[in-house]
Amino acid sequence: MNEARGSGRGKIILLGEHAVVHGEPAIATGLGQEVRIRLVPVGEGGPRVPEVLRPAVDAATAALGMSPTRGLALEIAGDLPVAVGLGSSAALSVALVRALAALDRRALSPSEAARLANEVEKVFHGTPSGIDATTAAHGGLLWFETGPPMRWEEVAAGGPLPLVVALSGEEHDTGRSVGGLRRRAESSPEVYGPVFGAIGGLVRAGRAAIERAAWPLLGELMSMNHALLRACGVSTDALDRVVDDALRCGALGAKLTGAGGGGAAIALASPDGEADLVAALRGRGWNAFRARSA
Ligand code: PMV
Repeated sequence: MNEARGSGRGKIILLGEHAVVHGEPAIATGLGQEVRIRLVPVGEGGPRVPEVLRPAVDAATAALGMSPTRGLALEIAGDLPVAVGLGSSAALSVALVRALAALDRRALSPSEAARLANEVEKVFHGTPSGIDATTAAHGGLLWFETGPPMRWEEVAAGGPLPLVVALSGEEHDTGRSVGGLRRRAESSPEVYGPVFGAIGGLVRAGRAAIERAAWPLLGELMSMNHALLRACGVSTDALDRVVDDALRCGALGAKLTGAGGGGAAIALASPDGEADLVAALRGRGWNAFRARSA
Protein backbone atom coordinates (compact mmCIF):
# COMPACT_ATOMS: atom_id res chain seq x y z
CA MET A 1 0.00 0.00 0.00
CA ASN A 2 1.40 3.41 -0.96
CA GLU A 3 0.96 6.62 1.01
CA ALA A 4 -1.89 8.86 -0.08
CA ARG A 5 -2.60 12.54 0.24
CA GLY A 6 -5.60 14.84 0.07
CA SER A 7 -6.33 18.50 0.75
CA GLY A 8 -9.32 20.77 1.32
CA ARG A 9 -9.61 24.57 1.33
CA GLY A 10 -10.82 26.83 4.04
CA LYS A 11 -13.66 29.21 3.27
CA ILE A 12 -15.24 32.49 4.22
CA ILE A 13 -18.99 32.97 4.17
CA LEU A 14 -19.48 36.48 2.79
CA LEU A 15 -23.21 36.63 3.41
CA GLY A 16 -25.95 34.27 4.55
CA GLU A 17 -24.58 31.84 7.17
CA HIS A 18 -27.19 30.21 9.43
CA ALA A 19 -30.09 31.37 7.20
CA VAL A 20 -28.60 29.00 4.58
CA VAL A 21 -29.37 26.06 6.90
CA HIS A 22 -33.02 27.24 6.81
CA GLY A 23 -33.32 27.38 3.02
CA GLU A 24 -31.98 30.83 2.11
CA PRO A 25 -29.05 31.29 -0.33
CA ALA A 26 -25.54 32.20 0.82
CA ILE A 27 -22.30 33.35 -0.82
CA ALA A 28 -18.90 31.94 0.14
CA THR A 29 -15.36 32.12 -1.18
CA GLY A 30 -12.60 29.54 -0.94
CA LEU A 31 -9.38 30.49 0.86
CA GLY A 32 -5.75 29.85 -0.06
CA GLN A 33 -5.28 28.35 3.42
CA GLU A 34 -5.95 24.62 3.51
CA VAL A 35 -5.87 21.38 5.49
CA ARG A 36 -3.63 18.60 4.15
CA ILE A 37 -3.81 14.95 5.12
CA ARG A 38 -1.21 12.26 4.52
CA LEU A 39 -2.04 8.60 5.09
CA VAL A 40 1.08 6.52 5.63
CA PRO A 41 1.16 2.70 5.77
CA VAL A 42 2.73 1.59 9.09
CA GLY A 43 2.26 -2.19 8.86
CA GLU A 44 -0.09 -4.23 11.01
CA GLY A 45 0.49 -2.22 14.17
CA GLY A 46 -3.12 -1.12 13.95
CA PRO A 47 -4.51 2.26 12.98
CA ARG A 48 -2.67 5.34 14.22
CA VAL A 49 -5.43 7.81 13.87
CA PRO A 50 -5.89 10.42 16.61
CA GLU A 51 -8.90 9.28 18.72
CA VAL A 52 -10.72 12.58 18.13
CA LEU A 53 -10.64 11.91 14.37
CA ARG A 54 -11.71 8.26 14.52
CA PRO A 55 -15.47 8.98 13.98
CA ALA A 56 -14.63 11.20 10.98
CA VAL A 57 -12.35 8.53 9.47
CA ASP A 58 -15.05 5.88 10.02
CA ALA A 59 -17.69 8.12 8.41
CA ALA A 60 -15.39 8.85 5.46
CA THR A 61 -14.56 5.17 4.82
CA ALA A 62 -18.27 4.30 5.09
CA ALA A 63 -19.25 7.11 2.69
CA LEU A 64 -16.65 5.83 0.20
CA GLY A 65 -17.87 2.22 0.61
CA MET A 66 -14.38 1.15 1.76
CA SER A 67 -13.60 -1.38 4.49
CA PRO A 68 -12.26 0.11 7.74
CA THR A 69 -8.63 1.24 7.41
CA ARG A 70 -5.97 -0.68 9.32
CA GLY A 71 -2.23 -0.15 9.56
CA LEU A 72 -2.33 3.49 8.58
CA ALA A 73 -0.97 6.56 10.30
CA LEU A 74 -2.74 9.84 9.64
CA GLU A 75 -0.79 13.09 9.57
CA ILE A 76 -2.42 16.49 9.40
CA ALA A 77 -0.71 19.63 8.16
CA GLY A 78 -1.74 22.94 6.66
CA ASP A 79 -2.11 26.60 7.47
CA LEU A 80 -5.82 26.97 8.16
CA PRO A 81 -6.75 28.20 11.67
CA VAL A 82 -8.99 25.62 13.40
CA ALA A 83 -12.44 26.14 14.99
CA VAL A 84 -12.75 29.83 14.11
CA GLY A 85 -15.46 29.74 11.42
CA LEU A 86 -13.13 29.37 8.44
CA GLY A 87 -14.43 25.90 7.58
CA SER A 88 -11.65 23.76 9.08
CA SER A 89 -13.93 20.76 9.70
CA ALA A 90 -15.14 20.78 6.07
CA ALA A 91 -11.58 21.26 4.77
CA LEU A 92 -10.51 18.30 6.90
CA SER A 93 -13.47 16.22 5.65
CA VAL A 94 -12.64 16.99 2.01
CA ALA A 95 -8.93 16.22 2.61
CA LEU A 96 -9.88 12.95 4.31
CA VAL A 97 -12.20 11.62 1.58
CA ARG A 98 -9.66 12.62 -1.09
CA ALA A 99 -6.78 10.87 0.72
CA LEU A 100 -8.82 7.72 1.40
CA ALA A 101 -10.03 7.63 -2.22
CA ALA A 102 -6.41 8.02 -3.38
CA LEU A 103 -5.52 4.91 -1.32
CA ASP A 104 -8.02 3.07 -3.53
CA ARG A 105 -6.53 4.78 -6.60
CA ARG A 106 -9.76 6.70 -7.10
CA ALA A 107 -9.72 10.38 -8.11
CA LEU A 108 -12.84 12.19 -6.92
CA SER A 109 -14.41 15.02 -8.89
CA PRO A 110 -14.91 18.19 -6.78
CA SER A 111 -18.67 17.46 -6.65
CA GLU A 112 -18.12 13.88 -5.44
CA ALA A 113 -15.60 15.07 -2.86
CA ALA A 114 -18.08 17.70 -1.64
CA ARG A 115 -20.97 15.21 -1.39
CA LEU A 116 -18.93 12.62 0.51
CA ALA A 117 -17.29 15.23 2.74
CA ASN A 118 -20.72 16.58 3.68
CA GLU A 119 -21.54 13.11 5.10
CA VAL A 120 -18.37 13.36 7.21
CA GLU A 121 -19.34 16.91 8.26
CA LYS A 122 -22.43 15.44 9.95
CA VAL A 123 -20.02 13.89 12.51
CA PHE A 124 -18.77 17.38 13.39
CA HIS A 125 -22.09 19.23 13.31
CA GLY A 126 -25.38 17.44 12.86
CA THR A 127 -27.14 19.34 10.07
CA PRO A 128 -24.61 21.01 7.75
CA SER A 129 -26.11 22.97 4.87
CA GLY A 130 -23.30 21.72 2.59
CA ILE A 131 -21.86 25.20 1.90
CA ASP A 132 -18.60 24.48 3.76
CA ALA A 133 -17.91 21.14 2.06
CA THR A 134 -18.88 22.53 -1.36
CA THR A 135 -16.54 25.51 -1.04
CA ALA A 136 -13.75 23.38 0.51
CA ALA A 137 -13.87 21.06 -2.51
CA HIS A 138 -14.47 23.54 -5.36
CA GLY A 139 -12.91 26.78 -4.19
CA GLY A 140 -13.82 30.00 -5.98
CA LEU A 141 -16.64 32.41 -5.25
CA LEU A 142 -19.89 30.43 -4.95
CA TRP A 143 -23.62 31.07 -4.69
CA PHE A 144 -25.05 28.18 -2.68
CA GLU A 145 -28.54 26.84 -1.87
CA THR A 146 -29.03 23.83 0.36
CA GLY A 147 -32.25 22.80 -1.40
CA PRO A 148 -33.29 20.10 -1.85
CA PRO A 149 -31.96 19.83 -4.42
CA MET A 150 -28.65 21.27 -3.24
CA ARG A 151 -27.27 23.62 -5.90
CA TRP A 152 -24.37 25.99 -6.36
CA GLU A 153 -22.91 28.15 -9.10
CA GLU A 154 -19.89 30.37 -9.54
CA VAL A 155 -20.33 34.11 -9.10
CA ALA A 156 -18.33 36.34 -11.43
CA ALA A 157 -17.04 39.19 -9.23
CA GLY A 158 -16.52 42.59 -10.88
CA GLY A 159 -13.05 42.75 -9.28
CA PRO A 160 -10.93 41.15 -6.55
CA LEU A 161 -12.68 41.30 -3.17
CA PRO A 162 -10.65 43.42 -0.72
CA LEU A 163 -11.27 41.16 2.28
CA VAL A 164 -9.60 41.01 5.67
CA VAL A 165 -10.08 38.34 8.36
CA ALA A 166 -9.81 39.16 12.08
CA LEU A 167 -9.95 36.48 14.78
CA SER A 168 -11.99 37.21 17.90
CA GLY A 169 -9.63 35.09 19.98
CA GLU A 170 -12.47 32.76 21.05
CA GLU A 171 -12.89 29.27 19.65
CA HIS A 172 -16.36 28.33 18.56
CA ASP A 173 -18.48 25.23 18.29
CA THR A 174 -20.48 25.09 15.06
CA GLY A 175 -22.81 22.30 16.24
CA ARG A 176 -23.76 24.21 19.41
CA SER A 177 -24.30 27.48 17.56
CA VAL A 178 -26.39 25.93 14.75
CA GLY A 179 -28.33 23.69 17.18
CA GLY A 180 -29.11 26.58 19.55
CA LEU A 181 -30.44 28.78 16.75
CA ARG A 182 -32.42 25.88 15.30
CA ARG A 183 -34.17 25.37 18.67
CA ARG A 184 -34.96 29.08 18.99
CA ALA A 185 -36.24 29.17 15.40
CA GLU A 186 -38.42 26.11 15.97
CA SER A 187 -40.00 27.60 19.07
CA SER A 188 -40.68 31.00 17.43
CA PRO A 189 -40.93 30.41 13.66
CA GLU A 190 -43.00 33.59 13.23
CA VAL A 191 -40.04 35.62 14.53
CA TYR A 192 -37.09 33.83 12.97
CA GLY A 193 -38.65 33.01 9.57
CA PRO A 194 -38.82 36.69 8.50
CA VAL A 195 -35.29 37.32 9.86
CA PHE A 196 -33.89 34.45 7.77
CA GLY A 197 -35.88 35.82 4.80
CA ALA A 198 -34.34 39.27 5.34
CA ILE A 199 -30.85 37.72 5.38
CA GLY A 200 -31.72 35.99 2.09
CA GLY A 201 -32.63 39.43 0.68
CA LEU A 202 -29.20 40.77 1.70
CA VAL A 203 -27.54 37.81 -0.05
CA ARG A 204 -29.45 38.47 -3.31
CA ALA A 205 -28.54 42.16 -3.21
CA GLY A 206 -24.98 41.19 -2.29
CA ARG A 207 -24.58 39.05 -5.37
CA ALA A 208 -25.57 41.97 -7.61
CA ALA A 209 -23.16 44.25 -5.69
CA ILE A 210 -20.29 41.75 -6.08
CA GLU A 211 -20.93 41.39 -9.80
CA ARG A 212 -20.78 45.19 -10.21
CA ALA A 213 -17.86 45.60 -7.79
CA ALA A 214 -20.12 47.96 -5.80
CA TRP A 215 -17.99 47.65 -2.66
CA PRO A 216 -19.60 50.40 -0.50
CA LEU A 217 -23.01 48.73 -1.01
CA LEU A 218 -21.56 45.29 -0.32
CA GLY A 219 -20.02 46.66 2.89
CA GLU A 220 -23.40 48.01 4.00
CA LEU A 221 -25.03 44.64 3.32
CA MET A 222 -22.33 42.83 5.32
CA SER A 223 -22.83 45.11 8.32
CA MET A 224 -26.61 44.62 8.13
CA ASN A 225 -26.05 40.87 7.97
CA HIS A 226 -23.96 41.11 11.14
CA ALA A 227 -26.73 43.04 12.90
CA LEU A 228 -29.26 40.33 12.01
CA LEU A 229 -26.90 37.53 13.10
CA ARG A 230 -26.39 39.40 16.36
CA ALA A 231 -30.16 39.65 16.77
CA CYS A 232 -30.32 35.88 16.24
CA GLY A 233 -27.99 35.43 19.23
CA VAL A 234 -24.95 33.98 17.45
CA SER A 235 -22.52 36.87 17.98
CA THR A 236 -20.37 37.55 21.06
CA ASP A 237 -19.01 40.69 22.72
CA ALA A 238 -15.59 40.04 21.17
CA LEU A 239 -17.07 39.59 17.68
CA ASP A 240 -19.11 42.79 18.07
CA ARG A 241 -15.97 44.63 19.21
CA VAL A 242 -13.87 43.43 16.28
CA VAL A 243 -16.67 44.40 13.86
CA ASP A 244 -16.95 47.89 15.45
CA ASP A 245 -13.16 48.30 15.40
CA ALA A 246 -13.00 47.34 11.73
CA LEU A 247 -15.61 50.00 10.90
CA ARG A 248 -13.75 52.59 13.02
CA CYS A 249 -10.58 51.68 11.10
CA GLY A 250 -12.27 52.54 7.81
CA ALA A 251 -13.74 49.19 6.67
CA LEU A 252 -16.69 49.54 4.27
CA GLY A 253 -18.50 46.82 6.22
CA ALA A 254 -17.85 43.97 8.64
CA LYS A 255 -19.55 40.91 10.07
CA LEU A 256 -18.93 37.66 11.84
CA THR A 257 -18.33 34.76 9.47
CA GLY A 258 -19.31 31.13 9.93
CA ALA A 259 -21.28 29.87 12.90
CA GLY A 260 -20.33 32.66 15.33
CA GLY A 261 -20.33 32.16 19.09
CA GLY A 262 -16.65 33.11 18.77
CA GLY A 263 -14.39 32.54 15.80
CA ALA A 264 -13.68 34.99 13.02
CA ALA A 265 -15.02 38.23 11.59
CA ILE A 266 -14.45 39.55 8.08
CA ALA A 267 -14.16 43.15 6.97
CA LEU A 268 -14.37 44.66 3.52
CA ALA A 269 -11.54 47.14 2.95
CA SER A 270 -11.62 49.90 0.36
CA PRO A 271 -9.97 48.76 -2.87
CA ASP A 272 -6.23 48.30 -2.22
CA GLY A 273 -6.83 49.18 1.43
CA GLU A 274 -6.36 45.67 2.83
CA ALA A 275 -2.80 46.19 4.15
CA ASP A 276 -3.77 49.41 5.97
CA LEU A 277 -6.84 47.78 7.50
CA VAL A 278 -4.81 44.76 8.66
CA ALA A 279 -2.24 47.10 10.25
CA ALA A 280 -4.93 49.19 11.95
CA LEU A 281 -6.68 46.11 13.35
CA ARG A 282 -3.37 44.68 14.57
CA GLY A 283 -2.70 48.02 16.22
CA ARG A 284 -5.91 47.48 18.19
CA GLY A 285 -4.72 44.05 19.28
CA TRP A 286 -6.55 41.80 16.83
CA ASN A 287 -4.99 38.89 14.95
CA ALA A 288 -5.88 40.12 11.47
CA PHE A 289 -4.71 39.04 8.04
CA ARG A 290 -5.58 39.56 4.42
CA ALA A 291 -7.87 36.86 3.01
CA ARG A 292 -6.25 35.02 0.13
CA SER A 293 -9.26 33.92 -1.94
CA ALA A 294 -8.74 30.73 -3.96
O1 PMV B 1 -18.42 27.95 11.42
P1 PMV B 1 -18.32 27.12 10.22
O2 PMV B 1 -17.09 27.36 9.43
O3 PMV B 1 -18.49 25.67 10.55
O4 PMV B 1 -19.53 27.54 9.24
C1 PMV B 1 -20.85 27.12 9.49
C2 PMV B 1 -21.84 27.77 8.54
C3 PMV B 1 -23.30 27.65 9.00
O5 PMV B 1 -24.11 28.33 8.03
C4 PMV B 1 -23.50 28.34 10.36
C5 PMV B 1 -23.74 26.20 9.13
C6 PMV B 1 -23.94 25.48 7.79
O6 PMV B 1 -23.87 24.25 7.80
O7 PMV B 1 -24.19 26.14 6.76
